Amino acid sequence: MTRILFVCLGNICRSPLAEAIFKTKISKKGLASNFDADSCGTADYHIGIPPDARTLKNALKNNVEIHHIGRQFQKDDFGKYDLIIPMDSSNRNNLLRMAQSEADANKIKLMRSFDPLHKNADVPDPYYGNERDFQEVFEILDRSVENLIQTLTKVGA
Ligand code: 4NP
Repeated sequence: MTRILFVCLGNICRSPLAEAIFKTKISKKGLASNFDADSCGTADYHIGIPPDARTLKNALKNNVEIHHIGRQFQKDDFGKYDLIIPMDSSNRNNLLRMAQSEADANKIKLMRSFDPLHKNADVPDPYYGNERDFQEVFEILDRSVENLIQTLTKVGA
């Protein structure tokens, strides 16, 4: 069982979508029992609320259902997860500041380090964007998560 935590700022746009795409894909591949996935935000703005309506609508358009309620990253998440995947370098830096050990820090891997097209770029924050920006985020996450799953299954995780 590999446990994965997707992290963004608000936990209402990018990370709940990454989590839902991941769950949809592993379920279709028959790998659901091999993984546990969740998402959270580094900020406390949206604790206890569902994702942004624009994210929900865009996900449905792409045949992905999101079931998530916002929560904030906690230091003890380092102990609960094997892989912690921030959407951008700003959230990676927030996480690195909270890491208690090198083992904690080594669990942090940028989402787009798995993007075959743009290694190590940020997943752009769509919050102040339009429908096209939400679709761009979907496409980035779709291919990055696909490659993440292939990487994890190749190493026998
Ligand atoms: P997310 O997007 O980090 O992808 O969930 C954001 C959501 C809310 C805010 C910023 C980014 N905000 O400033 O409230």
